[in-house]
Amino acid sequence: MPPTLNDLTTLARQAGDILRSSFGQRLRVHHKGLIDLVSDADRQSEQFLLSQIRGHYPNDRIVAEESGELAGTDDHMWYIDPLDGTVNYVHGLPIYSVSIAYAEEGQLRLGAVYDPMHDELFSAEAGAAAWLNGEPIHPASAPDLDHALLVTGFPYDIRTNPINNLNYYAYFALHSQGVRRLGSAALDLCYVGCGRFDGFWELRLNPWDVAAGGLIALQAGAVVTNLAGSNDFISPPQSILAASPIIHALMLQTLNRNLDLSSP
Ligand code: IPD
Ligand code: CA
Ligand code: CA
Repeated sequence: MPPTLNDLTTLARQAGDILRSSFGQRLRVHHKGLIDLVSDADRQSEQFLLSQIRGHYPNDRIVAEESGELAGTDDHMWYIDPLDGTVNYVHGLPIYSVSIAYAEEGQLRLGAVYDPMHDELFSAEAGAAAWLNGEPIHPASAPDLDHALLVTGFPYDIRTNPINNLNYYAYFALHSQGVRRLGSAALDLCYVGCGRFDGFWELRLNPWDVAAGGLIALQAGAVVTNLAGSNDFISPPQSILAASPIIHALMLQTLNRNLDLSSP
């Protein structure tokens, strides 16, 4: 039997409980890169999720941030980010989430993103709808960029890769109501879905960052593509643009007009 949305939301809540119970405590933190961190909390949450999914769906393939790919059938895939917002988490900043998505035959079917600090559970089922704590959600309706609140993020190789999003950031900071940087891509996407943000873009994410949140934003009624405008926001080269329909069109135009990143 394939999983149900209830299975995903239960797992997301349980993993979120693990994260919340260690939040604010002294943690062992390791550096995957200069500014790319992993803590014991990431690992505990991931171990819990992997053992549950492996136990119930032994033949499914799992793509998990800290463990990589676990073999299984391509027809049943899971995308797991056990802690999205690790840098926030290790600084005691209460903006982070657990992100779980399930895809069947290459199509995203179910997604759950849980924010343990605010007890907010976002979820979606393909072809149905998207919800926040069980209530249907919808994107905002800003008529233009001047009325739009945007959010973005920056890649961990920001110091070494010249394609670092700073020029897009500068452009939108001057042409929107404001640009935020929350530090959890999964929540950024959910917040587009429920209308807190009008648009979100980011370069070089990973499938586990965007699978659940992307489905949630999409099912809520946002347009979700990569920066080239393709509906496939999971495959490399990974980038994402999620926004209400009018804002998506305006942002896509700008992002493509400015794809030469040598000058802002
Ligand atoms: C990160 C967050 C952040 C985004 C980074 C991601 P992590 O995930 O989603 O908002 O800007 O690109 O890697 O490392 O906290 O799971
Ligand atoms: Ca992440
Ligand atoms: Ca993570």
